[in-house]
Amino acid sequence: MQKLAIQGGIPLRGEVRISGAKNAALPIMCASLLTADALRLTNLPDLHDVGTMRKLLQQMGVAADAATGEITFRGDKVDNWEAPYDMVKTMRAAILVLGPLVARFGDAKVSLPGGCAIGSRPVDLHIKGLQAMGAEIAIEHGYIHAKAKRLKGARIFFDIVSVTGTENLMMAAALADGVTVLENAAREPEVVDLANCLRAMGARITGDGTDTITITGVEKLHGATHRIMPDRIESGTFLVAAAATGGSITLRETRADILETVLEKLAEAGAQIKVAGDTIHLEMSGRPKAVNVRTAPHPAFPTDMQAQFMALNCIADGSAMVVETIFENRFMHVQELRRLGAQIDVEGNTSVVRGVGHMEGATVMATDLRASACLVIAGLVAQGETVIDRIYHLDRGYEHIESKLSQLGANIRRIK
Ligand code: UD1
Repeated sequence: MQKLAIQGGIPLRGEVRISGAKNAALPIMCASLLTADALRLTNLPDLHDVGTMRKLLQQMGVAADAATGEITFRGDKVDNWEAPYDMVKTMRAAILVLGPLVARFGDAKVSLPGGCAIGSRPVDLHIKGLQAMGAEIAIEHGYIHAKAKRLKGARIFFDIVSVTGTENLMMAAALADGVTVLENAAREPEVVDLANCLRAMGARITGDGTDTITITGVEKLHGATHRIMPDRIESGTFLVAAAATGGSITLRETRADILETVLEKLAEAGAQIKVAGDTIHLEMSGRPKAVNVRTAPHPAFPTDMQAQFMALNCIADGSAMVVETIFENRFMHVQELRRLGAQIDVEGNTSVVRGVGHMEGATVMATDLRASACLVIAGLVAQGETVIDRIYHLDRGYEHIESKLSQLGANIRRIK
């Protein structure tokens, strides 16, 4: 199993290019199932999850021709409507094939994702939404089996805001008969990116980016070319790493408008931030100030940035409260941070972090994707060597992380 070794204590300095967003790429790749024409996606990040999704689509019969940073998908020979357990268990986003398959082929079999490290994460809202659109759904042998002659438009209210739930139903509704209204829908920028791609394919969608999305189904969608939006979580992770190490960095090919709450929190921590076009520059002198964080659906503070801010708070001046309201078990990084000398108390979904003057390197274990990013940040700050085990989590969501960090001056290497 691969590990990362980091010699901490070096402020990050320099420029880094931000990759395409994982959480936009995965649903948009699934949109290729909605048409027999070619869907060309550019700015695709080179990530393990993107590779897994490509393989899953290929297993279904989608042709996927790759060039540097782009893949052209063609779904004219799809003959297998099943997403097997092996794929879904390594990547929950595989659930996103459900809506497109049942909408276009009237049949889909997708493994139930099961539990995952950060919580139980059910998919009941995806299922209820498709049922409201007329799909017949049976749960058999651990699989969701959905059938429908043609899905019908419906008014669907989400009890809980769900990002992939919104995306799955938006794709299904694009080919349904009539109008679908998604209420209490997710407002995440990745939902908007998917809607932009679907519109380019001929879908009729309004209201994306708000909590009410209206989709008027069409008979057929056609091919398109779409550029994947920049990754706001990768952007935020580099910015926090620079702030925590007292560095000065510039992100290229990103967007500040999708990072508002994160930039506000970094400014509160004492960072100087300048935005110009598609660049964000951050400079931090001295020790950051502790900042309270409470996660909630967009536009509030993203759960995918919670762990990274926890790492920042570990060495900050003062104490901070970190409240996680989206996932019930997303503090697994806490015990690893404690191994580096952090002082954190956890009670339910609330952590209280008391900033310490310095942390010391140790061996730690990554438990999930964003927890891994938090440990990398902590390792960059801690004195001496930090070795992070199980970094396959990191490779699922961060493109070439060690070369990007090395480019910024970090002393980091992969141990194979
Ligand atoms: C997406 C992101 C993930 C991010 C999360 C929250 C992708 C590929 N992943 O995950 O990085 O952390 O949004 O911003 O985009 N829920 C239910 N029933 C459902 C669906 C969800 O109860 O049918 C609950 C979940 O357990 C969780 C909450 O709703 O407590 C939000 O989850 P959701 O937005 O669906 O997360 P994902 O879409 O899986």
